[in-house]
Amino acid sequence: MNYYNDKRIWITGASSGIGKALAEILVTQGARLVLTARRKNLLEEIRTAAPETAEVSILDADLADIDALPEVCRKAWDEYSGLDIIIMNAGVSQRSLFRDMDFETGRNLFDINFFTHTKIMHELLPRLEAQGHGRIAAVTSLSGHIPSPLRIYYSSAKHALHGFYETLAAETWTSGIRVSMIIPGFVRTNISYNAVDGEGRAFGKLDPLQKSGADPSSAAKKILNKLERGKREIYVGYTTNAAVARFLGRVAPGLLLRILRNMKEV
Ligand SMILES: NC(=O)c1ccc[n+]([C@@H]2O[C@H](COP(=O)([O-])OP(=O)(O)OC[C@H]3O[C@@H](n4cnc5c(N)ncnc54)[C@H](OP(=O)(O)O)[C@@H]3O)[C@@H](O)[C@H]2O)c1
Repeated sequence: MNYYNDKRIWITGASSGIGKALAEILVTQGARLVLTARRKNLLEEIRTAAPETAEVSILDADLADIDALPEVCRKAWDEYSGLDIIIMNAGVSQRSLFRDMDFETGRNLFDINFFTHTKIMHELLPRLEAQGHGRIAAVTSLSGHIPSPLRIYYSSAKHALHGFYETLAAETWTSGIRVSMIIPGFVRTNISYNAVDGEGRAFGKLDPLQKSGADPSSAAKKILNKLERGKREIYVGYTTNAAVARFLGRVAPGLLLRILRNMKEV
């Protein structure tokens, strides 16, 4: 029996990229899925392409609408009377220097990339604890470990996510909750297209680092494999650039900063 068979799994940001690739694999493994994103038509396409026996529930929602999250969480939880795994994947990146950012755009980036996570945890953690088990898998980023020019609010929110989920992991261990962080380097998705500029407009380009990133399906396979093994941190998409940046961030942060100082473009 495969590990994901019958598991009740909520994937946020399932309409494209990493979330979609995870959903496409999980529908073939007998998981019972709730898929969330704003673009309902893309979620429907995943359901249509799934094997006939697959259980796929579509819960379209704007997860940046924090006030709406209690109801969204209730629906996600009630669909299969509980959740075994919550994959917190929805996110929006940024391509703009801080000096060109307006505050509101930055705050919106913080909402979807950080406060959406904490609000969903406020709603679902008590239910998970009452249930006595549950795995939370949060997609953060290499940008949450190192400084990331042109992505200052995104990077700050991802840094905050590391602090949040590491602390949550410590606080909830004895109640049977397990927390994993998925930390992508570069995966070839539409993340740079969907990233926002300083005024909140879509950046609309596939940038070179993204283009050379890992294939989303291979990344998703690796993620699911490591999640099954209960890994606390899961690294995917470590192209040469990403691997070097991660390494320098750990062992020579001063050198990494000197390199990043000259980074004017993506
Ligand atoms: N690709 C990479 O190299 C990379 C690197 C580091 C971290 N990551 C992280 O990986 C995660 C997935 O990104 P991706 O690369 O797969 O990019 P993507 O293709 O742009 O996917 C982002 C997903 O988030 C959803 N989303 C965004 N805003 C939302 C909102 N307000 N409400 C509901 N859903 C929303 C999008 O759906 P809708 O637009 O349909 O709402 C989409 O399904 C993100 O957290 C990202 O930060 C990716």
